[in-house]
Amino acid sequence: MSDAPRIVVLPGDGIGPEIVAAARTLLESLGEFEFDERLMGGCSIDAHGVALTDEVLEACLGADAVLLGAVGGPKWDTTDPDAPRPEQGLLGLRKGMGLYANLRPVRPSPALVGASPLREERIAGTDLLVVRELTGGIYFGDSGRDGDVAHDTCEYSVEEIDRIARTAFEAARRRAGDSGRRPKVTSVDKDNVLETSRLWREVVGRVAGNYEDVELEHLLVDNAAMQLVSRPADFDVVLAENLFGDILSDEAAMLTGSLGMLPSASLGADGAPGLFEPVHGSAPDIAGRGSANPLATILSAAMMLRHGFGRGADAARIETAVDAVLERGLRTPDLASGTVAQPPMVDVPQEVEVGTTEMTAAVLEELGA
Ligand code: IPM
Ligand code: MG
Repeated sequence: MSDAPRIVVLPGDGIGPEIVAAARTLLESLGEFEFDERLMGGCSIDAHGVALTDEVLEACLGADAVLLGAVGGPKWDTTDPDAPRPEQGLLGLRKGMGLYANLRPVRPSPALVGASPLREERIAGTDLLVVRELTGGIYFGDSGRDGDVAHDTCEYSVEEIDRIARTAFEAARRRAGDSGRRPKVTSVDKDNVLETSRLWREVVGRVAGNYEDVELEHLLVDNAAMQLVSRPADFDVVLAENLFGDILSDEAAMLTGSLGMLPSASLGADGAPGLFEPVHGSAPDIAGRGSANPLATILSAAMMLRHGFGRGADAARIETAVDAVLERGLRTPDLASGTVAQPPMVDVPQEVEVGTTEMTAAVLEELGA
């Protein structure tokens, strides 16, 4: 057996296979990896009747890292509570692999600042990280239906809050590095209403005692949603429970102008394999056309190198290469502005619309691979 890192690849549904292929090409150009491709999501429901088989979960647990495309699509949409759903595969993986910490960095590429729905002066300087709790809360509490009544339960333990809070404080410290900047954690909750939020705030406050160099601020989730669009550049690390983190990370992603740009890492205990996937979905409407934006998956592969394999320098090279191809004007359709109102100024390159393969090739070329 070779000692190349073993990556379980789960292309999933919709555009999943196309974007995962792009990230694989990129990884192959950077070194030796062993890939083990498996079914998960709607494709697994079609083949095996369930979104995640025990065998695939075992393979993931035994791997060095997992690369995921996206799951879901109208084919498997159903209101029947007993029918299998592609998303169950994703939630099963998160729980089964103990991936409690979800990291979603939001750093608008300088070339895309104009693509953000917010004015340029609002997003200038935005560089934040959403740390989302991923294996607890209302996603995993007791739920059910009784006649005309349905319920979902939100539960959090001190231990679950403590470990994700530590992840957030450590990340804030790491991000500040030796820049001299004071790191900050903004903890999000709804403690004026929810008991789980009151416990959350209490435990986060306690953990903060071990990180006196890190500033801690608490925001109610509704206020946080508002502040994220009014002063995004003031955020550093945003710490949130599962459901709030899901919602706020989509909102934060849009600061970059496209959900197609946001990568993520889901991590568990030290040394356990992590899972790396783009934040966006399976976009079934454009699947198979070769027009999907591969950059969020490519950036997720960079996060795999950084967090999974300790290759931070390679990760940074990929991130710089992605910025560079955008700087050159290359745009997949989701990023293209489609309007050239004025003749471009000399130093602003004309936008060129490209597909998945061309975009990937351009990133490889920037890497000199
Ligand atoms: C995400 C997605 C998932 C979630 C869905 C597909 C279950 O929205 O990763 O943000 O809600 O966690
Ligand atoms: Mg989401």
